[in-house]
Amino acid sequence: MIRFTTAGESHGPGLVVVIEGIPANLLIRKEEIEKELRRRMKGFGRGGRMKIERDEPRFLSGVRKGLTLGTPIAIFIENRDFPNWEDIMSPFGDSIPGERIERSPRPGHADLSGVLKRNFGDVRNVLERASARETAARVAAGAVAKVFLRAIDVEIISYVCSIGPVKARRGRSFEEIGEADPDSHPLRMIDGKAEKEAMEHIREAARRGDSVGGSFEVVVRGLPPGLGDYDQWERRLDGRLGGALLSIPAIKGVEVGEGIRSTRRGGLKTHDPVYPGPGKSLFFGKYRLPYRRKTNRAGGLEGGMTNGEELRITCYMKPIPTLTTPLDTIDLITGEPVKAIRERSDVCAVPAAAVVGEAMVALVLSSAVREKFGGDAMEDFLRNYESYLERICGKRGEE
Ligand SMILES: Cc1cc2nc3c(=O)[nH]c(=O)nc-3n(C[C@H](O)[C@H](O)[C@H](O)COP(=O)(O)O)c2cc1C
Repeated sequence: MIRFTTAGESHGPGLVVVIEGIPANLLIRKEEIEKELRRRMKGFGRGGRMKIERDEPRFLSGVRKGLTLGTPIAIFIENRDFPNWEDIMSPFGDSIPGERIERSPRPGHADLSGVLKRNFGDVRNVLERASARETAARVAAGAVAKVFLRAIDVEIISYVCSIGPVKARRGRSFEEIGEADPDSHPLRMIDGKAEKEAMEHIREAARRGDSVGGSFEVVVRGLPPGLGDYDQWERRLDGRLGGALLSIPAIKGVEVGEGIRSTRRGGLKTHDPVYPGPGKSLFFGKYRLPYRRKTNRAGGLEGGMTNGEELRITCYMKPIPTLTTPLDTIDLITGEPVKAIRERSDVCAVPAAAVVGEAMVALVLSSAVREKFGGDAMEDFLRNYESYLERICGKRGEE
C-alpha cells in the first residue's frame, strides 16, 4: 500500500525518492524530514563525505501548503560533492582524455558481480549506485512514513548494541531508551563505559587501515495488535521487516525479539504468558487492551502480526568493505593480481545504519497500517483506526 523507489548516484547531481500511498491531508513539516536526514549523517567513525554534504530535502510533488495530496510525494536531495565530480559523473559530458577507469573491484562490494552483470568495463558504473549514499533517500521516505505513523501515536527509536567486540547493556524499554537520548551519543550507544571503549576500538581500527561492524536495535511503541497477517507467507510482518532491514547495505542478520538468543533456552523461558487485564495492560490512546503480559521476548510479533507489545528488532552490520589497507583483487582487464580501489570511506557506520533501520521499519509499518485501516484521506484512516480499537478493547477497555 505504501511503496517507494529511489534514484541517484553517489557523486551524481543528487538523489530522488518517490513515495506512494500516504493518505491526503497529513500535515508534514519540512524540518521533520531535515531532522531525520541530519541524524543519518552523524556518528563517530564516519568519513570525510559527511562534512561536504548538507542533505536538504526539496519537495517536488505530493505536498501543498504543508499537507499531503494523497498522490506521489517526490523529494530531491542535492549531492553537494557533485561539482567535484562533474567531469567524471556528468550525464552527457565527453570522456576526458586519459580519464581514469576503475578496474580493481573491491571485495565485499557490488563491484565485481555488478560489472559482470551489466557488461561494464568501469567499476564506477556500479559503485556509484551501489553506494550507501542511496540510504539518504530512504531516510527521507522513512521520515514521511514516521510522520504518518505519529498520527496514531506510533514512535520509533534505535540505539547501538555493539561495536566490534564491545557490547552495551541491553533490554531497556522504549521509554528508558528515549530518556537516555541515543541522538546525543556519538555512537548512539546509551552505555557510557561501552561507548568509550567502542570509540577507542574504532580509532585503533582506523590506525590499522581496518573497519568495524556492530549491531543496533530498532524499538517501536504504540503498534496495535493485528498488523501484518498469518494467512500468506508474504504478508507475515517478520518477513517483510526482515527483508527491508536486510536490504540495507552491509546488514547481514536480523533478530526479532530474543528469537536467536531463545534457541539456547526452552520454550518455558521463551514465550510470553498472557494474563487478564486491565492491571498494567497497554493503552492505545483512550483505549486499553483487556489483557496484559509481563514479558516481551517475542519482540512484539507473533504469527506474522504485531501483538501490541513493543516491536524490537536487532540488526547486525558487517565491517565496512572499503579499506585504507586495500584487499587483494584482480585487474578486470589484465586479470593480474592488484590491490582494490581506495574510495573515500567510513571506518564505522553502525550509528548511521541504525537511523536507516528506523526508516525502513517506518516504511514497512506504515504500509501495514495503511493496509489495515485504509483511508484515502487521513480523516477516514483515523476513523477506521479508532473503530478497530473500540472493537478489540471494548467498552471495558475505555478509560
Ligand atoms: C549508512 C551506511 C554507510 C556506509 N558507508 C560505507 C562506506 O563509507 N564505505 C564502504 O565501503 N561501505 C559503506 N557501507 C556499506 C556498503 O555500502 C555495503 O557493504 C556494500 O554496498 C555491499 O553491500 P552488502 O554489504 O550488503 O553486500 C555503508 C553502509 C551503510 C548502511
